This record gives sequence, structure tokens and C-alpha cells, in this order.
Amino acid sequence: QRAGLPEYRSVITQHLLRHRGLDAATQSVLATGGTTAAVVEIAAAALRPGDVVAVEEPGYQRAVRAFRYAGMRVVPVGVDGEGLRCGDIPPGVAAVYCSPAHQYPMGCRMSASRRVALVERARADGFLVFEDDYDGELRYDVAPLPMLAALAPDVVVHLGTTSKILTPTLGAGWMVAPPGVASAVLDYRDVTGTRASPAGQRVLVELARHGDLGRHLRKLRRELSERRSMLTGALRRAGVPYLGDDAGAHLVVPLESGDGERRRLAEGRERGLLLDGLGRHFAGTPHAAGIAVGYAGCSRAELRQVLGVLVEVLRPRRG
Ligand SMILES: Cc1ncc(COP(=O)(O)O)c(C=O)c1O
Repeated sequence: QRAGLPEYRSVITQHLLRHRGLDAATQSVLATGGTTAAVVEIAAAALRPGDVVAVEEPGYQRAVRAFRYAGMRVVPVGVDGEGLRCGDIPPGVAAVYCSPAHQYPMGCRMSASRRVALVERARADGFLVFEDDYDGELRYDVAPLPMLAALAPDVVVHLGTTSKILTPTLGAGWMVAPPGVASAVLDYRDVTGTRASPAGQRVLVELARHGDLGRHLRKLRRELSERRSMLTGALRRAGVPYLGDDAGAHLVVPLESGDGERRRLAEGRERGLLLDGLGRHFAGTPHAAGIAVGYAGCSRAELRQVLGVLVEVLRPRRG
């Protein structure tokens, strides 16, 4: 079954409605092996070598690499506190890749007006929009915003994954795509004899069957929101600035320079902290510096233990 297990597609349809406010028809939901696997398939099936793809800068470099590997030319477009700067998308692009629910890595949510502007531009110019919803289920005390795929199902490929809410080892994700893209992907799977692995799909179906998935998501949101509050409280008390809306599983501490970033990364390593520099999230030359701090991979007790060191490493300093 190239589209995925019927029961998986039905579970995802309900998941999208309940947790993402997206009312998709089950026939339009395809199982994937995760976000990056879906990008690889769509690049091969629905885009052409030489096509230009606009990506967020900074942004998700695994998608950038997948587009480049498939022969696409990637043009970086800047982001600000409202997400991708749609006005800066150059003419002639075949596709735009963005993460509206929680910009990766900067952590802002795309504003409602930008969302509308982006899909209107996509319709006018005839490009495809990839909506990477990698951690869209993780939102705390902020109101939901309309999904791009709800605003414009005709031009938006919505990509979801279990990598953040469960584990990347499942290799299970989903896409909701315009009919032309979906059928191109199914043809690609027919021709290449590939499909999304059913094992991960079955695990998710079992988790959903008895309500475990819903319970897990509620618990995860509560837990991550607590960890986020611990972290933001400590940063505020120490006068360390941070960026990112109340969502997801990471935030960003902006820094003055790439040198400052490299110093913090080295200091973190020496003191037993694995920090993530913004530098590696640029497709071109980095024009901003900072540290992305993730709080998904540690317990509250572990986080409490390292907060002192973390704040010391990240606090603003001269020179
Ligand atoms: C921006 C972004 N998109 C998507 C994913 C998930 O990709 P995949 O489903 O290929 O594991 C991640 C990381 O896990 C991510 O950071």
C-alpha cells in the first residue's frame, strides 16, 4: 500500500484535526518516513533539477541538503520575529520551504498576516509551499494560528513527523499535499518500489487505539512547558536575553558575534554541556550568532542541575 496503512492514515487525519486544527480528508493524507524522507520524495517526484527553492535563513539544513542533492538551487530568505520575510522571496521560485509553527531554529511563530501573504503570493506566482510542522503539537500558553495547509490546500504541502513528539527511530511521518503532488509521489513510489515503512505506522496506530497518544501528548506538553518555564526563569533572573515564542522544545539565546558563539560552544563542551550554535543552521554565510538551547532531551532534575552552569556560559559579557 504505497499511500500508507489505511488505519494509520485515519489516525493521522484525527490527529491533525484534534491537535493541529487541520480538517484534511483521509484520502489526501499519505504516510511518509518522516519530514526529510518526504522532502527527498517530493523533490524527486514533483520538482525538477535546476528549480529554485527559497528556504528560511537560518533554517533546516537537512531539507536544504536534500533539495541541493536533488539538483535544486537553494536561495536563502531572511526571517524576523514574524517568520519568513515573504516580501524577500525572489521571483521565479518553484517552491518555498518554511516552518511556520515554530521557525527552526529561531523559534518564532509565523504571524497570521505573513501566512496569508505567503499563500496569496504562492497562488499568484504558482509556487509550492512546504509547511514543515515538525513540533506544531507543542504549544503552551499561546493561541493557535491558522495552518498554511488550511488556508491554501491547493498550493501547500503539509509535512508532519513523530520525530519530536515520540522518537525519530519510528521513522513515521505524514504529508497532506495538493492532488498533483500526492499523485506524483505515489507514481515515484510505484516506479522506485519504495514506501514508508509500515512498522512505525503500526506503532502509532496502536498508541492511538487506546488513547495513549493523546495522554502522551498532554503529558509531554505539560512537562516541556514546565521545563521551558524553569529555563526562561533562570535566564531572566540572570539577565540573559532569549528569543522564541512559547512553543516547541528549544529557545535561542542571541549573541553578539560568531566568535562569541564559538567561545560559548567550547566553554559548554568543557563544562559538560552540548550546546547548538546558530552558525550551522545557515545555508549561506551566517549573519547572526547565538545558541539554541533544547530542553527535550533531559529531565527536569537534570535541567535543574545544569541551569547554573548554563546561565554562566550564556550570560552577556564584554569583549
Ligand atoms: C525543522 C525540523 N523539521 C523536521 C524535523 C524532523 O525530521 P524527520 O521527520 O526527518 O526526523 C526536525 C528534527 O527532528 C526539524 O528540526
